[in-house]
Amino acid sequence: MSEMYEKLRRCLESVRNKTDFVPETALVLGSGLGNYAENICVEATLDYADIEGFPISTVPGHKGRYIFGTIGRMPIVCMQGRIHYYEGYSMEEVVLPIRLMRLMGAKQLFLTNAAGGINPAMKAGDFMMITGQIASFVPSPLRGANDERLGVRFPDMTDLYDVKLQEAIRKASAEHHIPIQEGTYIQLGGPNYETPQEVAMCRILGADAVGMSTACETIAGKHAGMRVCGISCISNLAAGISKTPLSHQEVQETADRVAPLFQELVTASIRNMEELL
Ligand code: HPA
Repeated sequence: MSEMYEKLRRCLESVRNKTDFVPETALVLGSGLGNYAENICVEATLDYADIEGFPISTVPGHKGRYIFGTIGRMPIVCMQGRIHYYEGYSMEEVVLPIRLMRLMGAKQLFLTNAAGGINPAMKAGDFMMITGQIASFVPSPLRGANDERLGVRFPDMTDLYDVKLQEAIRKASAEHHIPIQEGTYIQLGGPNYETPQEVAMCRILGADAVGMSTACETIAGKHAGMRVCGISCISNLAAGISKTPLSHQEVQETADRVAPLFQELVTASIRNMEELL
């Protein structure tokens, strides 16, 4: 058994010592969705610190725990706090929590994040449903020995973001009158924000929003056979497009301001995904 798979099995054992909950959907909560637990009928929680071998997030404002429960009829596991590559972990460690949720039973992966808007049509406070991604500037989480029990060596990435899940999000947007943009997310390594020149490069490459997470998680989820979708909260205009210097505070403040709408959009989307069960 590969070392990574062995570690995952040990993590799963820690989870199963606490709860036998089997999720259908895995939800990763980005900035602004820190209080999302209020929307969940919670059955159990598990601190990352109580899972043997689990990487611990070091970012202020990111709690570190799994929440198990239901939204409507949908059994979900939620990550309150994710692991970022810029914290110093390897990509394999960064995506361990995603793979663990797959082993718990989750078949769908719903990713959320805060991101900088690159497309001139974006305003701070907008939401962007992710329809494609560029992850070429960070290492692949699949680098290294492949364990066939998780997925194939050379997974196809053509329809990375699931069309049916995207439909569920669009429907939620229309029904709840919460406008969403759609576009391509590019992941850079961080933790420094981009230079205006890098943002200009990202635009030339076709990116609409830039962030420091998510794309690697999408790859790991898809590799492991999950259907993936994602929404970015455009917390700021990216460097050079914004008239003012960027700060984590601005990102947090915008994300917090639109958090109630973001929560509503995510919940409505998940309810529309019940039909896919
Ligand atoms: N760049 C990268 N990551 C981000 C940004 C940004 O402008 N805003 C929120 N996360």
